[in-house]
Amino acid sequence: MAASPIIDVSGLSISFRGVKALQDVSFALNSGEIVGLIGPNGSGKTTALNCLSGFLKPDAGVIRFKGEDITGQSPAEVANRGLMRTFQVTKLARRMTLIENLLLAAQKADDESLFATIFGRGTFARRQPRLLERARELLETVKLSHLENDYAGVLSGGQQRLLSIALVLIRDPDVILLDEPAAGVHPDLVVEFIAMVNRIREERGKSFLIIEHNMHFISSVCDNVVVLDAGTNLASGPPNVIHNDPRVLEVYLGTPQDA
Ligand SMILES: Nc1ncnc2c1ncn2[C@@H]1O[C@H](COP(=O)(O)OP(=O)(O)O)[C@@H](O)[C@H]1O
Ligand SMILES: [Mg+2]
Repeated sequence: MAASPIIDVSGLSISFRGVKALQDVSFALNSGEIVGLIGPNGSGKTTALNCLSGFLKPDAGVIRFKGEDITGQSPAEVANRGLMRTFQVTKLARRMTLIENLLLAAQKADDESLFATIFGRGTFARRQPRLLERARELLETVKLSHLENDYAGVLSGGQQRLLSIALVLIRDPDVILLDEPAAGVHPDLVVEFIAMVNRIREERGKSFLIIEHNMHFISSVCDNVVVLDAGTNLASGPPNVIHNDPRVLEVYLGTPQDA
């Protein structure tokens, strides 16, 4: 019996003041899989990710997560179900240490925690030693252990992206959504990022949906690639097949003169 996909998107459509950003887009992601979402600028990649994470409500279509219809649910509801995106640098508390940032991110997952933290008792307080241990483990996973007591504000742009992965992992999601994680990152750190994504999948069984222009990144981590063009599905398949698909080459290189 084939397992049903962990994410199943079907017929996704959304327009912005008449601009059709997505038209009948469908794709799926199996548990433990890493899927790349590629396509030229403006093809609808970020819009699709925003629909999945609850930041945009599609005009039509259904998003299923672990078999349940989550279409139109809020970002918090979607995150609590285990589907999470990373956030930009600006969301980090720059005057808090890396460890403190992780503990803060963990607290957001627990309704009781704020109360418990304020009154110094309750479940969060009892869990704190274990949580601290988990935060340290995650810094090890993203190779930032040596900076655990430094302020987040001192991290380079690339290091902040590594930390943003740890901030999501502390809430133990099943699927992580990444929007151009390698953009503007130093090539050495891109290599580290690729290794980290593969490690998180192998050691923790996480699935990823990754928007990325860096084709080396895509072919180094992805099992499957979904290609969008002008808000529609253009192609999908394993990276080596997608790389040699003439339709994909055409949308990236431009339409031939004689077409
Ligand atoms: N909030 C918005 N308001 C108006 N148009 C938008 C908005 N977000 C995206 N678009 C438009 O939708 C299309 C797809 O954009 P986007 O999803 O950002 O593409 P990509 O991430 O593939 O570069 C583009 O034409 C873009 O201008
Ligand atoms: Mg984008």
